[in-house]
Amino acid sequence: MEMKRFVGQVAVVTGAGRGIGKACALRFAQEGANVACLDMDDAANAQTVEECTANGVEAIAIHCNVADPDNVDSAVQAVQERFGRIDILVASAGVYSGSLLTELPVKQWQRTIDINLTGVFICNRAIAPILAQQGSGSIINIASMAGKTSWPGSAEYSASKSGVIGLTRSVAMEVAESHVTVNAICPGNTKTDMVRFVASQIGGRDGLSTDEWLASRANDCPMKRLAEPWEIAGVAAFLASEDSRYITGQAIEVDGGMVMS
Ligand SMILES: NC(=O)c1ccc[n+]([C@@H]2O[C@H](COP(=O)([O-])OP(=O)(O)OC[C@H]3O[C@@H](n4cnc5c(N)ncnc54)[C@H](O)[C@@H]3O)[C@@H](O)[C@H]2O)c1
Repeated sequence: MEMKRFVGQVAVVTGAGRGIGKACALRFAQEGANVACLDMDDAANAQTVEECTANGVEAIAIHCNVADPDNVDSAVQAVQERFGRIDILVASAGVYSGSLLTELPVKQWQRTIDINLTGVFICNRAIAPILAQQGSGSIINIASMAGKTSWPGSAEYSASKSGVIGLTRSVAMEVAESHVTVNAICPGNTKTDMVRFVASQIGGRDGLSTDEWLASRANDCPMKRLAEPWEIAGVAAFLASEDSRYITGQAIEVDGGMVMS
């Protein structure tokens, strides 16, 4: 059954150039939303926009560094000028860098926190009031299973993702009476460029090739496989849909059973 739940709505997706953000942009376009794609990688972002518009909706690419408040504010203004409204934010832009504690420079810690945590805060701060004023809308922050569990060399990444979960709860409470929902998704290992980078870093440290490390991660998962980006996007679409209006402030694992609590 083809569903088009978001006709006439506008979705803003950060990190739309690749991976989970791209899958979310495409899913919302397939379901009839106009999509604003925010990313720093202009070539990749332009490609996402082209694939979105192939679904008969409007899509725009906006160059935006989510860690820069001026960038985000002018991006949000551009979206409002073009589409006149915003209904959905998917905050997916993020980076991974993993070093063991004693080899982790403050600069690297700071960069991860700036993009993964402060970037989500800045985007939520820019868009939550617009949704609240409208009296409807959904924010979906892409956290990680690393927000609920950790591994050696995940200090700054886990800290940033735990931070996103805490931020999500607070924003959810501030806009709850306005019928706006705010949730986090905590993906497990998902087949994107990022996970291959993680594999090369952590796998390299453990003497495993990228493919060997990915296979070992799949083996650790109760479902014995990694996630496809569209499996994360499907949950984002659910969290923006009419079927989830009473879910807010949650951090939902989409990880094949890796983290259970
Ligand atoms: N892939 C996984 O296994 C996995 C698991 C859990 C959580 N996540 C999270 O999902 C989100 C997306 O990850 P992905 O795997 O799709 O990564 P990816 O590297 O494939 O894509 C990330 C996108 O974000 C963009 N980006 C990076 N920094 C940016 C910035 N400062 N401003 C704007 N755009 C920026 C990149 O250009 C890229 O297009 C991230 O927040 C990541 O932490 C990923």
